[in-house]
Amino acid sequence: MSDALPTQDAVDAHVAAFARELAAAPSLNDAKSLRDRYLGRKNSIVAAWMQLIGSAPADQKKHIGQYANALKVAIEARWTAYDEAAQNAAPAGGVDVTLPGRQPRLGHRHPLTVVRDRMEEIFTRMGFAIVEGPEIEDEWHCFDALNMPAEHPARDMQDTLYLASPMPPIAGDPESLVRTMLRTHTSAMQIRYMQAHQPPIRIVVPGRVYRRDDLDLTHTPMFSQMEGLVVGEGISLADLKGTLLAFARDMFGEQSRLRFRPSFFPYTEPSAEVDISCWSCNGAGCSMCKKSGWIEILGCGMVHPAVFEAVGYDPEKYTGFAWGIGIERVAILRYQVEDIRLFYENDLRFLEQFPS
Ligand code: DAH
Repeated sequence: MSDALPTQDAVDAHVAAFARELAAAPSLNDAKSLRDRYLGRKNSIVAAWMQLIGSAPADQKKHIGQYANALKVAIEARWTAYDEAAQNAAPAGGVDVTLPGRQPRLGHRHPLTVVRDRMEEIFTRMGFAIVEGPEIEDEWHCFDALNMPAEHPARDMQDTLYLASPMPPIAGDPESLVRTMLRTHTSAMQIRYMQAHQPPIRIVVPGRVYRRDDLDLTHTPMFSQMEGLVVGEGISLADLKGTLLAFARDMFGEQSRLRFRPSFFPYTEPSAEVDISCWSCNGAGCSMCKKSGWIEILGCGMVHPAVFEAVGYDPEKYTGFAWGIGIERVAILRYQVEDIRLFYENDLRFLEQFPS
């Protein structure tokens, strides 16, 4: 520290230097150590001036005290202004416009919703209407009208979740008291829709279905399906194949091929189970398709004449096709999810991995 006695010029020079250095301080911490160099109780400029008072000639003591104090007040005032600005507005050195902004947390659609929306979009573009039906059904709509006689295995208590109380009887008609259940498939809505509309019909029915299944990697007592139904004059198996192929190409890629395997459903004749060429290996065989090159995705067929009779359509005049596809199954295959239960556990670490 200079031994020269403080003067007003020295005060001004120090204050100007402090202001200049403060403005250039790269961080708040740098600014604080700068402040301490001027104002600190030990080894600071102001402290050194204060110490001079003791050794100064008597007639100088007062002046030195005044200059030291003036310096202290001026530095403190600049520091306070700087510090307040730093607290209130921007970090030291101004606003860093290159810093990323603070992102508000956005929610997004559940992966099953994403898949369902995509499927709906594809069928909407093909001219299908989207309709929904009740999750509580009666046996007639869910089974009888779909050509499933009373002794059919699907009606077994093992598979169906029946409700404790039947639907209330319609006044004066005890026959109307029917057993109710949670629908086991969206096919029940085929019946309701045909009862209420005349052909031509082109609908898809997304919705939840329920079965008495124990939870495991591939089963949950509740899952979702999308039913499809087309009815008109001259509708053929070729229309069924063309529609499903167009869907598969849109959903799983242009290279997709379909394989129809003869199968059995009471409400269709003929019936088929449909496999899609594996989109992971394009049919060559990989772990995803269990080396077969094919992945089963849905059941379908031409609407059985008995179903048309149940809803009062003339089976000589109309033909149609229907299919049912599991939405979880599509999601599991598309995203390669190993455990269906993950879709229902609401664990954000799982859900946030999907594009919304
Ligand atoms: N209802 C069937 C199921 O739940 C799926 C199904 C198969 C629906 C064939 C159809 C169909 O409309 O024609 O597994």
